Amino acid sequence: MSAITDLEHWLRTDFVDHNTALEEAHLAGAPLDAAAVLRDDGGTLVSRVDALPDDRLARYQLLGAVGFYLAACRRHDVAAPEPAQAVAGRLGLSLGVAPRFVFAHESTHNPTVDGVFRTFTRLPDEHTFITYNALGVLAYERAAAALRAIPAVGVSGRLAGHLLDEAAAALADVLRFNKALAAELDVDRFYRNVRPYFRPHDVCGVEYRGANAGDFAAVNEIDLALGLCDQRDPFYQRILAEKYPYVPPEHQVRLREAPVSLLDLFEADGSANVDRYLAVCRAHGAAYSFHHHKLVRPYLVKPAGDAPPDGISASGPPLDVVVAGLARLVDLRAALDRPGTARVRLARLRSASAVPSVAG
Ligand code: HEM
Repeated sequence: MSAITDLEHWLRTDFVDHNTALEEAHLAGAPLDAAAVLRDDGGTLVSRVDALPDDRLARYQLLGAVGFYLAACRRHDVAAPEPAQAVAGRLGLSLGVAPRFVFAHESTHNPTVDGVFRTFTRLPDEHTFITYNALGVLAYERAAAALRAIPAVGVSGRLAGHLLDEAAAALADVLRFNKALAAELDVDRFYRNVRPYFRPHDVCGVEYRGANAGDFAAVNEIDLALGLCDQRDPFYQRILAEKYPYVPPEHQVRLREAPVSLLDLFEADGSANVDRYLAVCRAHGAAYSFHHHKLVRPYLVKPAGDAPPDGISASGPPLDVVVAGLARLVDLRAALDRPGTARVRLARLRSASAVPSVAG
């Protein structure tokens, strides 16, 4: 495994130095020649990887390592050698995922060494972005786990009440982390020096779309468990199918499942806990609305409008298409007054249970 150890060591040392220097040079408007060195040194190390780890987690993390190298080549506009791309291709095939780094490789599957996780650069904004995003994902995971346990105990008892409160608290944490991110992350640094590593790129002649912080299963499990979204809705099905290759293998299993809708269960089983269920819906809508209006718009849409159309921040489709899809997700998650949302059903449930005023 020494080829892998050598690669890991390089990624945590020279690779980060090269990228950091290149980012500083970009900001100063004086690009360096370090990109060719990065391409050649990394290409040699990655191409030496032959035997792949038996353990699936180790293989997935190795895909992240190789993927970091390929994404950095893309960011600096140098072509990664084909043998290096082929290593990513083998890893992706063996795991059934896209052969590129995805957000999980930066967050939930990014092992620390001496407390330090792998990054592209040493820029504090990259560290901030990954940390708060990862904390948000963990909080979404907690909410999904709590909701997943409810159908087995029924919606109207004390256990369900406890689980609903747990889900609401976890979603309040998502909002808290998103707010902290918005308070600390510099727009310009994010747009010019962090996001460009997420660009789409080719692996062995096929283009894979960019990394996306929403590529994890829990948020969709929550949508479906709350009954705010429906797998029968073609729009929503597209969201699930599109992200499927970009989530870790254990999340793919969860994306394939169809959680029981708690909204259906509440409609069938009286009024106990309805207020708590509605509080979870509100928390989910609030966290996602914040994402849309205070993260996506200021950190992406606004700077993209100000910048030349160089595609540097594209994660795949044109930005206006991405943003329209995200706006529809806000409609659904916040049950806004738009066609096809759960708004009317929630209002009916609320009045049937005579709970005083609930927004949403
Ligand atoms: C500066 C910060 C952020 C920006 C600019 C941003 C931007 C985006 C964009 C552009 C998408 C759509 C991706 C695409 O379709 O190409 C997206 C999706 C998403 N992001 Fe973020 N994001 C940020 C932070 C976060 C954080 C902190 C979280 C919390 C964990 C998060 C969770 C999500 C979710 C859940 C989706 C939707 C995916 C889905 O439901 O299918 N994002 N984001």
